[in-house]
Amino acid sequence: MDLYEHQARELFEEHGIVVPRAEVTDSPKEAREIARRLGGRVVVKAQVKTGGRGRAGGVKLAADPAAAELTARQILGMDIRGHTVSKVMLAQPVDIESEFYVSYVLDRAAGGFLAIASAEGGTEIEEVAATRPQAVARVRIDPAVGVTSATAQEIAGAAGLPPQTADVLVRLWQVLVREDALLVEVNPLVRTREGRILALDGKVTLDDNARFRQARWGDDAAERHDPLEAAAAAKGLNYVKLDGEVGIIGNGAGLVMSTLDVVAGCGARPANFLDIGGGASAQVMADGLSVILSDPAVRSVLVNVFGGITACDAVADGIVRALEAVRLTRPLVVRLDGNNAARGRAILDGRAHPLVEQATTMDGAARRAAELAHTA
Ligand SMILES: Nc1ncnc2c1ncn2[C@@H]1O[C@H](COP(=O)(O)OP(=O)(O)OP(=O)(O)O)[C@@H](O)[C@H]1O
Ligand SMILES: [Mg+2]
Repeated sequence: MDLYEHQARELFEEHGIVVPRAEVTDSPKEAREIARRLGGRVVVKAQVKTGGRGRAGGVKLAADPAAAELTARQILGMDIRGHTVSKVMLAQPVDIESEFYVSYVLDRAAGGFLAIASAEGGTEIEEVAATRPQAVARVRIDPAVGVTSATAQEIAGAAGLPPQTADVLVRLWQVLVREDALLVEVNPLVRTREGRILALDGKVTLDDNARFRQARWGDDAAERHDPLEAAAAAKGLNYVKLDGEVGIIGNGAGLVMSTLDVVAGCGARPANFLDIGGGASAQVMADGLSVILSDPAVRSVLVNVFGGITACDAVADGIVRALEAVRLTRPLVVRLDGNNAARGRAILDGRAHPLVEQATTMDGAARRAAELAHTA
């Protein structure tokens, strides 16, 4: 999960990184009050989880509280790369002497973290890296050791940053470790004319696997862009929306992934990933079916279950009861195999729903679901 700039700023502050005084609001009137509290002149900044806000007109200097209100009114509601601005942050302006770039990012290929730093901050780092690669320093961080003050000095030295930035580099690493982040980025980190080092912008991406430890940021289900994913998340389903026409339900992430591949191999496109895991109760099946069927792109649905600990007759019971709760509007192909498969198939045969048919193999089921998606 990405954090908003104001949330990243809050974390930086908690870890002793100096940031400008700032407050957040969704109201232009309140923006005026905040500007007054902050001393009159303020930088008004759109809070959206995307980059390039400055270029899009989402970062503006306001000379006094009245201008802050006006600017906040302009920026609130603005669309920045598909993100609607619902909050602005007002920050005290800082007298910048130079702007730097610093970040730590998980480098999965290297199995460790990478520090990226540049004395040419402020603009997009991708641009600097493309046009002047020698201006961007990359230092590998051993996750078992972390960033000591010696490492921090090495990073600052490699990038040509002033030595006082080393302290921020150590603290920024602490943000990454303690807050379970996969990315922490400050662009720009600045030196002011008085020689102070401040973080003027922040981007933090948290590791979703650590969500249970980072409950303060809440559940971002409501923020998911896809309404189907939001509905699925609200029901506790492991669902990812895809672009195709064959709805997929399976038990076990590995089996579901292979099912997506086999469906694609049959010339159709999967409409989603949905792993109902072990258990596969009628409720979970009904919830899964109802989410999949509310996707208008879906032309057929494939249920692919390999019974292990979960027996196929229990899954078949789940499907039968789900069919009572959800009106099936498109053909459903079911493949049951493994533990108690014969009993499971008999249960579905007994139900004899006109839109439900069974296949005995995964390939056969995928072929049939693909065919139905093209003809139905
Ligand atoms: N508090 C501040 N005081 C003075 N100047 C600021 C302040 N905040 C931002 N700026 C200036 O505005 C520029 C852009 O701000 P910022 O980095 O926050 O937005 P951005 O980079 O456009 O957004 P994003 O990082 O999402 O692309 C900074 O590089 C800095 O020069
Ligand atoms: Mg920035």
